[in-house]
Amino acid sequence: MNSNYKNLLSPFTFPVSGIKIASRTVMAPMTTFSGNEDGTTNDAEVAYYRERNESAGLLITACAYVIRHGKGFHGQIGADSDELIPSLRRIADAMKANGNKAVLQIYHGGRMSPPEELVDGQSLCASAVAAEREGAAVPREMTVTEIEETIVAFGEATRRAIEAGFNGVEIHGANTYLLQQFFSPHSNRRTDKWGGDLIKRMTFPLAVVDAVKKAVALSAHPFLVGYRISPEEMENPGIKMDDTLALVEALSKKKLDYLHVSVMDFWAGSMRDQKDTVARALKIVEKVGHILPVIGVGGAHTPEDVERILAAKISSVAMGRELLMEPHWLTKVKNNEVDQIITELDVNTQELLNIPTPLWNGLMSRSGWMPMKK
Ligand SMILES: Cc1cc2nc3c(=O)[nH]c(=O)nc-3n(C[C@H](O)[C@H](O)[C@H](O)COP(=O)(O)O)c2cc1C
Repeated sequence: MNSNYKNLLSPFTFPVSGIKIASRTVMAPMTTFSGNEDGTTNDAEVAYYRERNESAGLLITACAYVIRHGKGFHGQIGADSDELIPSLRRIADAMKANGNKAVLQIYHGGRMSPPEELVDGQSLCASAVAAEREGAAVPREMTVTEIEETIVAFGEATRRAIEAGFNGVEIHGANTYLLQQFFSPHSNRRTDKWGGDLIKRMTFPLAVVDAVKKAVALSAHPFLVGYRISPEEMENPGIKMDDTLALVEALSKKKLDYLHVSVMDFWAGSMRDQKDTVARALKIVEKVGHILPVIGVGGAHTPEDVERILAAKISSVAMGRELLMEPHWLTKVKNNEVDQIITELDVNTQELLNIPTPLWNGLMSRSGWMPMKK
């Protein structure tokens, strides 16, 4: 065992479920674009997860839609019907095969759903306000019935995750998708109980948390519930850090196992206020870290990067892109093979890395996504 990285190699017990992970590292949720049209997984995607099942102590899946109308990506897996439980089980089994813990990320795309992925071509949102992106479709405002159905769907997806053998769910409240859209003053202009001031804009995300927790309470097994947030939005009006601090305070009263702060660079300060250079996750830890463990993410590659973040009272550190290019990250740290950790993607190694072709093509087509080996 490598004694240089004591923090990252130490176990962590989540406070509510009591579930223990053997290392304070996390595989970040990453969409693979590689599932089947009917929302099931396939051999290539399962092999991708199996390859990475020793990459970190906690392994989070790509986001899975909880209701067909929330599908956000081509090749996305679903958790919206009981028929998909065997497929979800294949992923959970592959992830857990070496003793690490598996979490299903549950999701609704809202206005970010590409119309061509939806049965009727019409995306939904809190309000009929298009995202500020070129060519963004104008969503339809959700009816109260649709809101209530979606809340139920998050609870049902949780039940399926439990039945499929996952150790937990992560509620995707980040990255501009539906839960964030309800919290955002940009996309939520409602005047009923689901919108309005800051507190009223929390109503939908908090109702989703309650539905998920209710499903968990019905299970006899310990089961993790985490929540992912994006701390800020660029839009005006848009989510500001103070809004987020109020949201995390409300979330901290919901008996969650963790909060996952989604940013691309952990140490970056505010994207709305250049003068504010304090890492946003640190402000969140300051506010709620004593009751709600915070997972940090964004730009960690080496064990030194992870240790530096852990030293800032972050409970565990997630890595996304790094574990695409280095599926055996944690094993190499444990075995004193840190100098062999790959931190640049070699364009000839798709097969070796067991990366399904749609994800691989995505990585190849977006310059700047990954450090590439020249
Ligand atoms: C290919 C790819 C797919 C992603 N898909 C998801 C996703 O399904 N859900 C999510 O919350 N974040 C997703 N993310 C964001 C990552 O979880 C992570 O927050 C981000 O990549 C920053 O961490 P990193 O610097 O360690 O890669 C994705 C990132 C990448 C690169």
